[in-house]
Amino acid sequence: MVSVAIMGHGVVGSGVAEILLTHKQKLFASLGEEVYIKKVLDLREFPDSPIADRFTKDFNDIINDLEIRVVVEVMGGLNPAYDFVKRCLKAGKSVVTSNKELVAAHGAELLAIAKEENVNFLFEASVGGGIPIIRPMSQCLVANIVYEVAGILNGTTNFILTKMIEEGMQFEDALKLAQDLGFAERNPAADIEGFDACRKICILASLAYGKHVYPDSVHTEGITKITLDDVKYAEAYNCVIKLIGKVKKLGDGKIDIIVAPMFVPNKSQLANIDNEFNGIMVRGDCTGDVVFYGKGAGKLPTASAVVADVIDCCKHLKTRKYLYWTDGDGKNILDYKDSVAAMYVRTSGKDALSKAESTFGNISVIKKDDAPADEVAFVTEEMPYGEFLNKKEALENNDVKVLSSIRIGDL
Ligand code: HSE
Repeated sequence: MVSVAIMGHGVVGSGVAEILLTHKQKLFASLGEEVYIKKVLDLREFPDSPIADRFTKDFNDIINDLEIRVVVEVMGGLNPAYDFVKRCLKAGKSVVTSNKELVAAHGAELLAIAKEENVNFLFEASVGGGIPIIRPMSQCLVANIVYEVAGILNGTTNFILTKMIEEGMQFEDALKLAQDLGFAERNPAADIEGFDACRKICILASLAYGKHVYPDSVHTEGITKITLDDVKYAEAYNCVIKLIGKVKKLGDGKIDIIVAPMFVPNKSQLANIDNEFNGIMVRGDCTGDVVFYGKGAGKLPTASAVVADVIDCCKHLKTRKYLYWTDGDGKNILDYKDSVAAMYVRTSGKDALSKAESTFGNISVIKKDDAPADEVAFVTEEMPYGEFLNKKEALENNDVKVLSSIRIGDL
């Protein structure tokens, strides 16, 4: 029997307890012994839980219990999760977490502590919910040089955009629905402003390129400015709008990393990933493109990944799984203004078309039947983002209003 503790009994934590209890036989068959939930840490009361007698409000009941070998952290947020996880690792306990904020902020440090203490720190559920991605990247694809990782990494925003695209639903209504379904973060700004997707692409970039990438070094845009008009123009251009997290290896050893809404061509493998589903494309030099698809949010999908890590930790109580990267200083990250993309631009104003042509040169105009007479939407040629910003400013100084601008994804 291996004793484990679960810190947090929210959406994911209750799912972890549920799977460990309901899939007891299945897990026993895999591990060869029982996984016993010895303690659950939560400040709330859960009198109806089948393990109500094992709840505690005191972290000391976990850290001081030598029988507890694996601790699951599913509290979310940085405090007190960071302190608790660090102390568990230093106490010689393996830790499993779904907390992408924690891994993105402190992954390198926590991995180093785990290495020093000869325990495991696993976080499969931190990216892609129920989709296996951390383990495939760190093990199955390890022979590859990873040229690029690009994905739809946030279920809430993908759900919102899908509802806007397929049902013409307004942004706020779709967000409310995602919150009711339990996909959204406690503070939905983390979803809709792109921070959650940013944390996840940082984790994947750190894993792919071996140096920690911190979220504040990544240019991040959310989906709050996307309108139903933009959705329709994307459709007319044979694209869908998706929030994409993307990292690409450049020739000079740098990486080009970004989170932003993008026009995704209908023929792209990422275009048909809808609702709360996530999709992640890994481009390896040996394998070519490998695409991972599944539910990126929700109680049981996420808990499934956590429990798999728990089993892995229980199987490797005395050995370390190879999952590691070192700290990073951001010097390997390309300035986002040097990142090259073609841009979709929606404008309005007198002579907007001729002014856009004289400012941007070659452009492809996109037509929409019900567009106002003075509205012009177009796609530019590829250019560094800094150059685009300068040209956009010049257009605005020429009395043309830029209503929106979205990158064309090279996906
Ligand atoms: N809020 C997150 C999402 C949950 O919508 O993807 C899973 O990380």
